[in-house]
Amino acid sequence: MTSPVESSGAVAGEVVDLMDPALMSDPFGGFSRLRERAAMVRGSFPGVDTPIWLVTRYDDVKLVLSDRRFVNDPANVPGMDVRNIREKAIQARGIPPECARYLMDGILDVDGADHIRLRRLVSRTFTARRVSELRPRVEDITEALLDGLAATPANDVVDLIDRFAYPLPITVICELVGIPEESRPQWREWGKALVSLEPGHFGDVIVAMVAHIRELIERRRAEPSGDLLTGLIRAHDEDGDHLSDTEMITMVLTLVLAGHETTAHLIGNGVAALLTHPEQLALLRDEPGLMPRAVHELMRWCGPVHATRMRYATEDLEIGGMPVRRGEAVMAMLVGANYDPREFDEPDRLDITREPDERRENHVGFGHGLHYCLGAALARQEGEVAIAALSRRFPDLALAVDPKDLQRQLLPGSWRLARLPVRLS
Ligand code: HEM
Repeated sequence: MTSPVESSGAVAGEVVDLMDPALMSDPFGGFSRLRERAAMVRGSFPGVDTPIWLVTRYDDVKLVLSDRRFVNDPANVPGMDVRNIREKAIQARGIPPECARYLMDGILDVDGADHIRLRRLVSRTFTARRVSELRPRVEDITEALLDGLAATPANDVVDLIDRFAYPLPITVICELVGIPEESRPQWREWGKALVSLEPGHFGDVIVAMVAHIRELIERRRAEPSGDLLTGLIRAHDEDGDHLSDTEMITMVLTLVLAGHETTAHLIGNGVAALLTHPEQLALLRDEPGLMPRAVHELMRWCGPVHATRMRYATEDLEIGGMPVRRGEAVMAMLVGANYDPREFDEPDRLDITREPDERRENHVGFGHGLHYCLGAALARQEGEVAIAALSRRFPDLALAVDPKDLQRQLLPGSWRLARLPVRLS
């Protein structure tokens, strides 16, 4: 990553490999250095041969995510040959063509009226009310998992990722959607296989997931219940418009995958951050009312998602004074924005009292603009409940390894622990 820096601040000829292990193991330092050198830098990612611009500054990230001149679907760029882009992405991941549509036409792949339509139909059933009504159930699931942990012999080392951070969100999202208990372990395995980015595996997993969801939809059509899947089947707007079967399958896939992998690592990263900053944990224990703010700050400081999907410029434009050509891809590096000193004082410092108002969030860990995370309220709620209950039940909770030995799973655009070994007492 060393190359000449022009006097304009632009980094000439540099291409940052998003799969570079050094960058993936220190994305905070890496993207902060890039951010301070230039508004954008070229990036590369396997299977993508369109030029990608990595945007790292707070205002620029927000611009990319909210300016209509950027689209998620390259087909909306005038004159762009998208077949090539899509086919390459499908091939690179070993996805069988018959399953590609489930991954290519989701809510994150569409723009404008198509996006508003999908978002509106899912929002009819995935409401703020449904999320807040779920809170007691999230608390019960959490307590049951903690009961299981409490039964481990004193002094045993427990992996909190495996025993707590994963099971909580997968249980919650599966209950919400209506995925039966017996298939949940299978979903967790599928989720793991998908994020591992192993091409051979990817296709098989998608085929299995699609078949499973199709069967669930049939079952719910015959026996409706109060779950979200039944809500999706029934959802329609004033004009009688409703989700097609393909859209429903894609939506369930998105919700279950987006809903547990990410939240698990918010809990894992968040607990690790508090254990390595005991003064912040003590503050939170003294003042439990700080919890919503604490979760906002943890999302900023160690949120699990570091980059958004690619956006495509529909016309020639400029970001931070640098030119972006029509059809070029831009990736919003949330990690760069969340550590931008132009927006946050002393961004490297974890400070759970930082948010001026717990209802407002200025970090971009859940994205920004039209595609802002649909599940943010649920994820925040799970984070709050999980961290509060864990610290209440186990006041002596401590890391069982030196913080520098905490192992990360290195994935581009993602920040996650492979394991979180702790002692409960
Ligand atoms: C979108 C992060 C939890 C469902 C997004 C985006 C981000 C994000 C950054 C925007 C991506 C982009 O613009 O390219 C996170 C994080 C989570 C989390 C960090 C946990 C800590 C959830 C949960 C659900 C969910 C629990 C569902 C139950 C979605 C959906 C979208 C989305 C459906 C697409 C929205 C749209 O395109 O309109 N998420 N998410 N997420 N998220 Fe989340």
